[in-house]
Order: sequence, then structure tokens, then C-alpha cells
Amino acid sequence: MNWKSDIPLALSYDDVMLVPRRSGIRSRREVDTGTRFTRRLRLAVPLVSANMDTVTESSMSIAMARIGGLGIIHRFLTVEQQAREVARVKRAEALVIEDPHTVRNDASFDEARRLMAEHGVSGLVVVDADRRLAGMLTSRDIDMVPEARVVEDAMTPRSRLVVGRIDTSGDEALEIMRDARVEKLPLVGDGDQLAGLVTMRDLLQHAERPESTTDARGRLAVGAAIGVRGDYLERARALVAAGADALVLDIAHGHAEHAIQAVSAVREAIGDAVDVVAGNVATAEGARDLCLAGADAVKVGVGPGSVCTTRIVAGVGVPQLSAVMACAEACAEHDVPVIADGGIRYPGDVAKAIAAGAETVMIGGLLAGTPESPGDVVTRDGRRVKVFRGMASAPAAEARRHAEDLDDEFVPTVPEGVETVVPLRDPASEIVRNLVGGLRSGMSYSNASTIAEMHRNATFVRITVAGLNESHPHALRG
Ligand code: XMP
Repeated sequence: MNWKSDIPLALSYDDVMLVPRRSGIRSRREVDTGTRFTRRLRLAVPLVSANMDTVTESSMSIAMARIGGLGIIHRFLTVEQQAREVARVKRAEALVIEDPHTVRNDASFDEARRLMAEHGVSGLVVVDADRRLAGMLTSRDIDMVPEARVVEDAMTPRSRLVVGRIDTSGDEALEIMRDARVEKLPLVGDGDQLAGLVTMRDLLQHAERPESTTDARGRLAVGAAIGVRGDYLERARALVAAGADALVLDIAHGHAEHAIQAVSAVREAIGDAVDVVAGNVATAEGARDLCLAGADAVKVGVGPGSVCTTRIVAGVGVPQLSAVMACAEACAEHDVPVIADGGIRYPGDVAKAIAAGAETVMIGGLLAGTPESPGDVVTRDGRRVKVFRGMASAPAAEARRHAEDLDDEFVPTVPEGVETVVPLRDPASEIVRNLVGGLRSGMSYSNASTIAEMHRNATFVRITVAGLNESHPHALRG
């Protein structure tokens, strides 16, 4: 008996190539990369930054959402810290700033200066003791009236302000500001209560980047990761309250019973407010069980990541291309999108992941070392680098031991990840542009003008080591 024949073959990105098809697509610009991250959350660009502590906090999330992707803030922070990171993204851009930074009309100049420095803004809305709009104050106003002592001596008073109503739309606000030649428009409700602030900068930025990922209020969208133990329900509620647009229930073995149960528990805790992603799995059964538990997207990948050692340490994993294909087929029956997580080294891998059935691709290593990734720049062997590490690595576990109230089920008894350093890289937007360029090209070769067509039209061939060698540049080998 040939016992080996019962073992299925599983393939990875390097084992295959996309086959060029007859294509009616004339230019890569004709290709639409619009997709779904979850059932309800749409992205113009199918790329998501990984919830790792050396990849995604607020600054990466802002960059990703601006370019049409999404950032998932990692969970190895206290609940308060993680909620604050989410709130930072939500404040970065908005059509209406609903809770603008304010100062009291009777506050001192020193107080106003302190508030401006603390919030990093050059202007404050002035309110009275009952939070009625009293005026506007800029740092210039303070410089112009040096002898004044309190805010109301230097501010532009309410009587001279151009003001909108609480229900003023973005278009109306733009018109009012253009007519009056002002850059900021405070909004008031009944009784002149301050209700928000619209800035020309935000409106123009919004108009310039129609592809950016935003919520219904024009704020940048952001996802946040949670675990399946300890404070995870409290964390889920706090993140939703802070404005998270999706929760990513993320553990190494997403097909564990307690992970499946956690999906329903989270759904119950937060209601229908935001979509819930669950993972990671690498089999059709795993994907199906998460769909049945109520997941709005399934994250796929056990061991393909650039700093993962699960496959070496535990001997467990499924090569990523086959894992994505199996899970995508299972998820299609439930109309649930798949996120291909880990193992992307080249733009062509993104095209292959999407062709295999993923709707989005999660990127860790390629975004580490960018200016937006968390962590300090350090010099090692004369090179300027940033630390990048697996979330199940020993150094990551050690760092977390110092933080209180963190539940560490992610870290197994033996580390399943490593730490490394990566050279400083281009901004995240450049990395994403490059990856999307490759994807667009792969789509046009595959006669796919949309992600759905890529799922339907793309075909693979399996290649040999000789084929792989031929694929990489070899003119320089001498
Ligand atoms: P890339 O290849 O883009 O992959 O760097 C990012 C993904 O890797 C996973 N990850 C880990 N997997 N041990 C693992 O087995 C780890 O320590 C680890 N840290 C991250 C994770 O899915 C991430 O999105």
C-alpha cells in the first residue's frame, strides 16, 4: 500500500504562477481593486496592516485608511491604551469634529497655550461655563495681544464668527467657508451650544482622497484586535465605544473550541454595532465553524508569517495558497470574505492570494520598518533599523509580562516566533502603492477588472524549482 498517497498536497505562493489569459483590459488603471474586509466594511485597496506590536498602532492605521486600506491595532496594550489608539485614528480626519478641543473664555493665556501644545493644535474653540460658543482663539491671536490676560481679551468673539448649524452638511459647510473666506466653521445646536467644528483642511483632504476608508461620519476607519480570554469582552466594548469599525478576534489557533465560542460571546457583548473578524484558521472546517459562529470575515494563515516559527516548532500549518483556497471555498457558502494573513514577500504574492479567493491580504513584515510602524529607530552594526518581531516570540512575551491586565494566551510555552531588525523603509503608502501596482498588473493579465472577476477568471499552474529559479531575475548570477 502506498500510504503516502493519502496525504493531500498543499501549495504555497512560490509553487504556482498565474496563467496569462486573453484580456480585454487595456490599462492597469481600468482595474478596480475595491473589495470587502468584512461583510459590511468596504475597502478601495485590499490591503490590511497586521495587528502586531511592531506594525500597527494609530499612525500606521491612519496611513492605511488614507490610502484605501485598513490598519488593525494590536491588542498587546492595556484596554485604555488600545482604545486611545483607536480614538486617535478617529480624530485624525473627519468631516465634522464632534468634540473639538475647547478652552473656557475666562481661562488664562498660559492655560490656552498649554492646551494648544498638549493637543498639537494652533486653534481652540472658546466656550463659556455652559458650553455655549463664545469665540475662537488661535495662537496668532495670543501673539497679537500680548498684554491681554484671559482668553476672551484676545479671541474672535461669537458676534464676529461665521457659524454653522448642527445639521450643516459637508457641502454646505464648504460653501459657507468659501464665501466667508474662513478656514474653520464651528457648529452650534439649540441654545448656541457647541456641537462641532468643520475645518477647510479636513474637507479638502476628504475631497482629494475619495478612495480613503472612512465611516459614515467621514472619519478614517480602523480595526482593533482582541483575544478570547480574560478582559476580552470588556476590551471589545471599550474599542467599539472608542469608534473601532471592526473587531478582529485573533488567536494563533482560531479553530479551538474556546475561540469559536468567543465569536458568539463577542457578538452578544457588542450587538450588531460592528463586524467581527475571527481567526486564524487554515482549513475549510475551521473556516466553516467560524462562519457558523457568526464571523463576518475569516482570517487565514497558520505559520506563513515572516517571523513565525509555528511550522518549525509545532510542526503545524498549511501552505498558504492551499489554505486560502480551501477557506475561501468554505466561506463563499456563507458569503463571508477571507483575509489572507501572512507570507507576502512580493507584490505577485498579493495577486496570487486574491486569485486564490481572498478578498483582502494582511501584511506584517513588509510594513515593518516604515516611518508609521511603532518602535524607535536604533543603530545596529552601523545600520539604522527598527525591531520587528513575531507576537509569539520570546521578546514580545517578555515585553508583555511588564504590562498589567494582559492575557497572554497568544504565547505558547515554547516561542513560535522570532525577533529581527529591518532596515528603515519608505512610507507605508509607498509600500502599499507598490503592492497594489503588482496586483493591478496580475489582474489585467488574468482578464479581471474587479476582485470578483479575479476570483472567477484567474487560473494557476504549478511550477517546479526550475520554474521558480527562472522566475527570479537571473541575468546577474554570472
Ligand atoms: P508577514 O509575513 O506579513 O505575516 O510578516 C504577518 C502575520 O504573521 C502572523 N504572526 C505570527 N505567527 N508566530 C506565528 O506563528 C508569531 O510569533 C507571529 N507573529 C505574527 C500574524 O498572523 C501576522 O498577521
